[in-house]
Amino acid sequence: MKIKNICCIGAGYVGGPTMAVIAQKCPEINVTVVDINEQRIAAWNDEDVENIPIYEPGLSEVVKEARDRNLFFSTDVDSAIDKADMIFISVNTPTKTYGIGKGMAADLKYIELCARQIARVSKSDKIVVEKSTLPVRTAEALKNILDNTGNNVNYQILSNPEFLAEGTAVDDLVNPDRVLIGGDIDTPEGKEAVEALVDVYAHWVSRERLLTTNVWSSELSKLTANAFLAQRVSSINAMSELCEKTGADVNEVSKAVGMDSRIGSKFLKSSVGFGGSCFQKDILNLVYISKSFGLHEVADYWEQVILMNDHQKRRFAAKIVQTLFNTVSGKKIALLGWAFKKDTNDTRESAAIYVADYLLNEQAELVVYDPKVKAEQIYADLDYLNSRSSEGNRARVKVVSKPYEATKDSHAVAVLTEWDEFKELDWQKVYDEMLKPAFLFDGRRLLERETKEAIGFEFYAIGS
Ligand code: NAI
Repeated sequence: MKIKNICCIGAGYVGGPTMAVIAQKCPEINVTVVDINEQRIAAWNDEDVENIPIYEPGLSEVVKEARDRNLFFSTDVDSAIDKADMIFISVNTPTKTYGIGKGMAADLKYIELCARQIARVSKSDKIVVEKSTLPVRTAEALKNILDNTGNNVNYQILSNPEFLAEGTAVDDLVNPDRVLIGGDIDTPEGKEAVEALVDVYAHWVSRERLLTTNVWSSELSKLTANAFLAQRVSSINAMSELCEKTGADVNEVSKAVGMDSRIGSKFLKSSVGFGGSCFQKDILNLVYISKSFGLHEVADYWEQVILMNDHQKRRFAAKIVQTLFNTVSGKKIALLGWAFKKDTNDTRESAAIYVADYLLNEQAELVVYDPKVKAEQIYADLDYLNSRSSEGNRARVKVVSKPYEATKDSHAVAVLTEWDEFKELDWQKVYDEMLKPAFLFDGRRLLERETKEAIGFEFYAIGS
């Protein structure tokens, strides 16, 4: 079966880049990305391709090449579903904020709404692909809804979790370590559906990197991958605290450990803590699933990864307060970076939000500079925590468009995102314009200690 029309529901950080690359690599397939968020779709369609809603290196070029050729963005969800042979569901699956499983389980209401809409609209057989990260066995629920509320058309459900990392999304999509496709491989129809998706990726991914499994393994592999990645960060962060007490240097430890080929060097960088929309929510989801099967030791094991991460963010903020003579009340502190990592404008679960909140509770005055994050986003992130009124956040947090505006007259500077440009700042100028003693807190191990101390900074870096 050859796929001619793809629809993707959800034009976010995953749906947008993923479909742009599929469209670029498969010019004979029509790809329509739909979303209920009109503003987001309008931005994807913006004449100036630099205004697309998601910043990722290389993405605007891909969109430029494929848009209006075989890549379309639309709010007309029904007609895209109707036309498609294959429908990707790439909607958000946040942590539940209400009811049973509040604060842990994945909220599947957006997924269910998609399933019901697909069932209502479809008049021909469809392959439905779970692209969103979902609890293991969600495909069963999808199938149930599709089969029982639909128009008697046949559905095959595949799981095709996305492993891209924000900041390197286009590269990861073009050269993936592997593409995982789970399907009902015990039936001929299931096999055929899996093959249809394999054929799409085979346009640019070599066959040995296309991994096919049963649906449940595929769903669980995504949660496992994120849990393992986050676990490495929490493990090295746990060591960073011990390094600070013992005279060891976490970078040296990490290098020595990472050169062991059994361990490997990636994801062993100590920092103020991991963020991003996925790690925390997916681990909480794993913890919830484990608990629901009565696997309390498994649940506790993975929950510790989150607890360590929360500790690391708090510890960094507390270190600032403690170092500034135990009070930051009324002091100006410059935060460099708000995105959860460099090369993205995504701020979801960014460590910066929590560090800022902690410092605001201590009555600090914050000035934030981030090269890609807009002021409204920063205020929205703080407002979402509900720690103080929206006016309170606006009164005490200033967002500026130049780094030196943030650092001038500040008591302390904290680096919270590892943007390359922070390495290149004129640190002498920063120092000269700050109040003294000039404190510099490196939450990302981005800056070189020797040169900063030589300038005169009181320098603190996580893990040494
Ligand atoms: P996002 O929040 O950026 O995008 C989701 C989009 O779906 C939103 O624009 C929303 O308006 C739209 N949507 C929700 N319900 C809809 C409906 N019924 N009809 C049409 N549109 C609807 O989320 P993001 O980051 O793209 O994540 C999507 C999924 O991919 C999540 O399950 C996430 O866990 C997973 N994922 C995310 C990664 C990331 O780096 N952000 C990486 C790998 C997986």
